[in-house]
Amino acid sequence: MDKKIKTIGVLTSGGDAPGMNVAIRAVVRTAINRGIKVKGIRHGFRGLLDKPDIFELNNFAVSDIIDRGGTILYTARCEQFKTEEGMQIAIKNCKLFGIDGIVVIGGDGSFRGAADLSMRGILCVGIPGTIDNDICSSDYSIGYDTALDTIVEMVDRISDTSQSHERCTVVEVMGRGAGWLALESGIAVGASVILVPEFDFDFEKDVIDKIIQAREKGKKDFIIIVAEGVVHNKKTSVEEMANNICAGTNIDTRSSVLGHVQRGGSPTVRDRIIGSQMGYKAVDLLSAGIGNRVVVMKNNKIKDYDIFESQKMKKPLDKDLYLIANEINK
Ligand code: F6P
Repeated sequence: MDKKIKTIGVLTSGGDAPGMNVAIRAVVRTAINRGIKVKGIRHGFRGLLDKPDIFELNNFAVSDIIDRGGTILYTARCEQFKTEEGMQIAIKNCKLFGIDGIVVIGGDGSFRGAADLSMRGILCVGIPGTIDNDICSSDYSIGYDTALDTIVEMVDRISDTSQSHERCTVVEVMGRGAGWLALESGIAVGASVILVPEFDFDFEKDVIDKIIQAREKGKKDFIIIVAEGVVHNKKTSVEEMANNICAGTNIDTRSSVLGHVQRGGSPTVRDRIIGSQMGYKAVDLLSAGIGNRVVVMKNNKIKDYDIFESQKMKKPLDKDLYLIANEINK
């Protein structure tokens, strides 16, 4: 497609993630450097609907945000945008505000909206932004590294008190339907058991027996990391799991749901660098008149894929990593 882009919009959509501000900053700085104006769209796609919330962003507006968690543009999940009527209002407002293209920072759900808009003539480029790391086309999504660091810091603290009291603690981490956060944080904290929605398990054999066997060899405290997807699928809670562990092993057991603490905080170096690279790449595409793409990280390289094709890709949880975790976390 060959279309001269004069003004682009940028929005963040879905759950916020540390590093979204980094990407916004890179989008603004790259675009302005190329003579393209940038409009910030607040509250995700909702900011394009009945009460448009659109304002001009300049270089100064994105100063001092590289280290800030959350998103200066606010975010939302928007049902109305999924309807044809909502889509038409969004297109009308894009025209009204002179927006030729949009950078959408969010998850796969947000990219579906971006694809729908692209099909109707507003060029969109997606940037993966979610702590869940569950974007099917990309090895990495902005916010994941920071969230992992936060989980590890929190669980290390829980481990201190677990050790002092010779307890077991069951910790629930986020991830929606994906077990990436649980698997990698579980390895990093040396969890005795890691439960993820992608791989089935037998509670008696894989949790209770494993703890008993480890205790017989002298281990006195245990961390069990549970992905929220497991809690959801099995219709249970970490509290219930802790009670069952206590009953099955006679070890004093506590539970903890880390919750939204995982979504906040200053982005790590990795999130700052990848956020900057992805923001730059998104504008590079739009300034060349190319839309309907999603910027991805593949084998440590920044690339871009067709949004529709990207939605069909699969990103299975790393089975080898899971096997390693089970072998070494005795
Ligand atoms: O997608 C990010 C995420 O934090 C998931 O891990 C979690 O399931 C969900 O968002 C929570 O969403 P909310 O903040 O709307 O409760």
